[in-house]
Amino acid sequence: MLQKIRDMLLMDSHVCPSWLSFSLNNGIRKMFHDPEKIFSPWIKKGDTVLDIGCGPGYFTIPLAKMVGENGKVIAVDIQDRMIEKLKRNLEKNDLRNRVNIIKARKDDILVDQKVDFALSFWMVHEVGNPDLLFKQVMNTLKPGAYYAVVEPKFHVILSRYNHIVKVAESCGLKQVSTLDVRFSRGTLFTL
Ligand SMILES: C[S@@+](CC[C@H](N)C(=O)[O-])C[C@H]1O[C@@H](n2cnc3c(N)ncnc32)[C@H](O)[C@@H]1O
Repeated sequence: MLQKIRDMLLMDSHVCPSWLSFSLNNGIRKMFHDPEKIFSPWIKKGDTVLDIGCGPGYFTIPLAKMVGENGKVIAVDIQDRMIEKLKRNLEKNDLRNRVNIIKARKDDILVDQKVDFALSFWMVHEVGNPDLLFKQVMNTLKPGAYYAVVEPKFHVILSRYNHIVKVAESCGLKQVSTLDVRFSRGTLFTL
């Protein structure tokens, strides 16, 4: 089982299967990925936040709390099963009305709204053409908005991460700072 998970994670551009969502959405993760601690400096009440590759909603739910009742989260994923889990988790937390859920295509996030903050947490390495993704995200960013890209250290080695950052820059994104996130490498970008 562990070998199967490891082999899958090491494959290029694999998509995290929904049966692994227990590893993404659990109480233990909060000890090392506290969404509020990581992202509150850039998110305020009333904001519109884009969560690309939201999975079962580990970040979507706290983001929806952070933007408050006048804010919005746009949660995007390509997998029906992840979206079903996300819907159930939102309903449990009574937050369904703050989140627009979009079933994306592999090569198109299908978002046409403007956002104050965008997040791709542990998902860019699953995307076949990150340059397409970055250009689409750039089209959603309001002037002055930030875009956080965070990748897992376990299976995205430094050279691959540096390549992802280079691709982002070649699309026109500018690095603002690095992000200090456990087991991860992260960069904050802006237009
Ligand atoms: C490893 S999970 C991370 C989920 C969540 N961001 C978290 O940190 O808990 C990656 C998610 O990205 C989604 N994904 C992969 N490729 C995508 C794409 N091209 N567009 C949108 N979502 C994508 C997968 O379906 C999966 O739910």
